[in-house]
Amino acid sequence: MSKATTFGEFIMDGQAEFPFVSGQLTRLLTDIGVAAKIVNHQVNRAGLAGILGDAGSTNIQDETQQKLDVFADVTFMRILTAGKSVAGIGSEEQEEPILCGDLGKAGKYIVLIDPLDGSSNVDVNVSIGTIFRIQRRKTPMGEPLTKHDFLQAGTEQVASGYVLYGSSTMLVYTTGSGVNGFTLDPAVGEFFLSHPGMKFPEIGKIYSMNDALLSKCSTPTKLFIEECRENTDAGFIARYIGSLVSDFHRNLIHGGIYLYPSLKDKPEGKLRLLYECSPLAFIAEQAGGLAIDDHGSILEKTPTDLHQRVPYYVGNKNLVEAFLKFQQAEK
Ligand code: AHG
Ligand code: MN
Ligand code: MN
Repeated sequence: MSKATTFGEFIMDGQAEFPFVSGQLTRLLTDIGVAAKIVNHQVNRAGLAGILGDAGSTNIQDETQQKLDVFADVTFMRILTAGKSVAGIGSEEQEEPILCGDLGKAGKYIVLIDPLDGSSNVDVNVSIGTIFRIQRRKTPMGEPLTKHDFLQAGTEQVASGYVLYGSSTMLVYTTGSGVNGFTLDPAVGEFFLSHPGMKFPEIGKIYSMNDALLSKCSTPTKLFIEECRENTDAGFIARYIGSLVSDFHRNLIHGGIYLYPSLKDKPEGKLRLLYECSPLAFIAEQAGGLAIDDHGSILEKTPTDLHQRVPYYVGNKNLVEAFLKFQQAEK
């Protein structure tokens, strides 16, 4: 009988793909897996532990933080700062970047993270997630980090991924040579390779957008959604969970597009370039999909601000390209 591959074994084997490896990335990915298991444990027992609900504080974006938002943020920070491979961390939950050790002088990598995505769904027991992206520092080792270490284009990512705390817990990641998914066996406490070489299906027919926003959207989004609605006989369906990780994951498996568009009162949309959009864009492109904003490729965009938001359209190539046609017709 063959033995199932664990996440740890898989990343060790993958280490050979990287030129000049020092094992720091392997260590960092392992740490993410450990933090994910701790957060997963807390998410699973949220109702029991009496930790559901409002933490009574707000984050930098003026959004109410849930207790689990705080727990997830603290857990990832604690574990990532304790490892030797991370120089700095940008978190959706914290205004300023965290510099590890002495001003981030040591450590090769920068991590950007949405510790808990979809947290408004916690109270109703709906799937939530964690999204992360990893890039190399730009300043030489031994020098303090600067904002340029954090504000790098998505094409500079070394790895990105997400953890989905769902009916089962999954960790999906890429280092730029395909996308692989691992499912947590809670009895053993290990992530096992369950979805090797993940790819979007050839043709996607799911569209995912908050329908209540439609009247505030620009013409291309309205026309695209209208076209999807007119094609229900051809199999088009709408699905929207309201947790980006969950909506993205479903669309990756069943084929679809996720849209969080530019709105009249929020021209930049809602989602954050560094913590949400670019890491999932890396996964999407590695899985044969596409990710764009209103001006072009998400991955090629150089951020100007840590907490920057961008309109976001991600998923199956056929659907993102169909949307793009409406965008181009408008220009
Ligand atoms: P977060 O919980 O990290 O703030 O992210 C919430 C995001 C995303 O997960 C989701 O897709 C989107 O907000 C839903 O927004 P609407 O409620 O406006 O549809
Ligand atoms: Mn989020
Ligand atoms: Mn979040």
